[in-house]
Amino acid sequence: MTAAVLDPADSDPARLDPAALDPADVLRRYLIADRQAPHLRVNFVSSLDGAATHDGLSGGLGDAADRLVFDTLRMLTDVILVGAGTVRAEGYGGIRFSAEAVAWRLANGLPEHPPVAIVSGRLDLDPAHPVFTRAATRPLVVTHAQAPVAAREALAAVADVLVCGEASVDHTLMLRMLTERGYPQVLCEGGPSLFGSLLAVDAVDELCLTLAPLLESGSGPRVSTAPEASPRRMHLAHALPAGDTLLLRYLKPSEP
Ligand SMILES: NC(=O)c1ccc[n+]([C@@H]2O[C@H](COP(=O)([O-])OP(=O)(O)OC[C@H]3O[C@@H](n4cnc5c(N)ncnc54)[C@H](OP(=O)(O)O)[C@@H]3O)[C@@H](O)[C@H]2O)c1
Repeated sequence: MTAAVLDPADSDPARLDPAALDPADVLRRYLIADRQAPHLRVNFVSSLDGAATHDGLSGGLGDAADRLVFDTLRMLTDVILVGAGTVRAEGYGGIRFSAEAVAWRLANGLPEHPPVAIVSGRLDLDPAHPVFTRAATRPLVVTHAQAPVAAREALAAVADVLVCGEASVDHTLMLRMLTERGYPQVLCEGGPSLFGSLLAVDAVDELCLTLAPLLESGSGPRVSTAPEASPRRMHLAHALPAGDTLLLRYLKPSEP
């Protein structure tokens, strides 16, 4: 795939107005060529100075262009993976697509809505939370064998509970189990701890990063918090400007 050339004199209207991005072009850029091959895609928005939150939430960073990519990536995935910290912080209601997105999924052989899979060790999640009660597709909770038994039983009433690992969630096993359940295309929506622990086992195939035109300052987290992960290079698949926002897509280089 060839990276877009960034030319300041570019007269593309999407450079001036984030809402002017062509949804069909965005879809084409993020389409999954081989849906059978397991693939972990991670999506984040960051400020220019590396903050993953604005006033404690990611929503203050994104704009219409970020939202278009966010919605497109959701439409394309088999399952949405998210850390319990993000569910507790951001709310996370049920996933409901537009009629057009549902029609696209059905026409492409996918169920109407992907499930959400929540990663949690402590299982400090309320079964009455909208992520469960308003879900269009029964969610998954991914945990480990030492998670509290009572919480596990309570959550089993509203979600399928996957036990992956003994004392913490084994992400490699988790991704294998998701593939076995028919979810090889995984979209991780954060947060930084989950992203970091996925990096630590070298599980991340792709990072979609929206660079928001904001100098956030403050002490918000970076998109990844995993001191144990080794640095690795990624390959730029595209850099798509939308107004002052930059939509970046990076892929893990294929093995030599
Ligand atoms: N900028 C963005 O695009 C973006 C995206 C998402 C989130 N955020 C922001 O990030 C913040 C939340 O991030 P976070 O790092 O605190 O939370 P997080 O990564 O969403 O979730 C962390 C939690 O996931 C569970 N977990 C992750 N790996 C695990 C493992 N190997 N074994 C067992 N459990 C595991 C644990 O849940 P338990 O504690 O339940 O055991 C852990 O506390 C919020 O402020 C949110 O707004 C920003």
